[in-house]
Amino acid sequence: MSIYADYNGTSQLKDSVKEYLIQRLDGPFGNPNAIHSIGNQIKDAYEKCRVHCAQMLGAEPHQVIFNSGSSEGISQVFYSHIARSNCNKRILTSKIEHSAIRNACKTLEKLGFQVDHLETDSNGKVKIPTSKEGYCIAALMAANNETGVIQDYEEFAKWCESTNTPYFCDTTQLIGKTKFNFKESNLDFAILSAHKIGALGGCGILLVKKPEKLKPIIFGGGQEYSLRGGTQNYIGVECLTVALQDILKCEKKFSDLEIRKQKFENTIKAAIPEAIIIGEAVKRLPNTTLLSVPGIHGQALQIELESRDIFVTTSSACSDNEPETSAVLKSMGIKDDVGRSVVRISVDCDATEKDYSEISAAIIKAHKTLKKIKIS
Ligand SMILES: Cc1ncc(COP(=O)(O)O)c(C=O)c1O
Repeated sequence: MSIYADYNGTSQLKDSVKEYLIQRLDGPFGNPNAIHSIGNQIKDAYEKCRVHCAQMLGAEPHQVIFNSGSSEGISQVFYSHIARSNCNKRILTSKIEHSAIRNACKTLEKLGFQVDHLETDSNGKVKIPTSKEGYCIAALMAANNETGVIQDYEEFAKWCESTNTPYFCDTTQLIGKTKFNFKESNLDFAILSAHKIGALGGCGILLVKKPEKLKPIIFGGGQEYSLRGGTQNYIGVECLTVALQDILKCEKKFSDLEIRKQKFENTIKAAIPEAIIIGEAVKRLPNTTLLSVPGIHGQALQIELESRDIFVTTSSACSDNEPETSAVLKSMGIKDDVGRSVVRISVDCDATEKDYSEISAAIIKAHKTLKKIKIS
């Protein structure tokens, strides 16, 4: 049996979603904006999904904008909303953000914005500022996709409020892996992608505290309160709602998963003393381990594991086939000998002790083979 351990990349479909989808394929299908009864039926179900999603995420229904996923939410807020707003043209962010945020900031820089970066420490934690300067927007992710390190985002939200800075929190990796409540966290913007939580790709949510101030990036026929045009991806939204309902069941399993993960990491460290768990000293997502075995390329380990039907990923960017230390790890001051040697193991909340012990056994075997090949 193969083990899929790339849940931070994309999750597998949840069984509940699969079952829902199979019966849903019998219909009805129709345009939710049509005035006939099929359209009405679909629109009613769609609006019920909005209410359910809002409840599960701690938001009001009108604060839920369905879209194609996190990258679209980021683009809408940065490119359509912030780029055109009458603000001080200053953005505060960190160097550990996902490339969607990093590239949005670069684009705004070309439009005349100044982008300031918060410092990251060697554990991957971003330092909360103490200054009283306000920004046009601040973007600090809740949990990092590579390391799984969880930021003090609620603390940062307090700082943002004290400086009148709207806070965009990339919650793509956090939602579904720890408890989350939009209102209680006091965020201005949050995002999710359905394919990260066991539903279908091409669907997601942008949560907005004050949607009346938001500008659309996709124009259409008035859908999503005229904030996101285009005929609604209603089946995607229905599946997303089913997956979100399932996440509540997952939440009960997080503490057990954390224990299994710890045991797994301890097994690896005992067998491979030079192994490093990135961000080990701080709070991380219960499903994520970023492991570095200096002296062995992350890609080589990934390929070895794949030959044993275990699917992990590296967190390295590749250029000209030369594995490089990722920007996130560089910002943590991690040197190439460690940064090029990472593999990310990110599992589902149902991952068992057996799954973890198969992964650790495979890593230990692969290490024995690969350590004979030295890298420069
Ligand atoms: C932290 C984070 N933000 C944003 C994204 C972008 O999500 P999507 O590709 O679904 O738009 C991802 C996806 O990997 C992510 O991990």
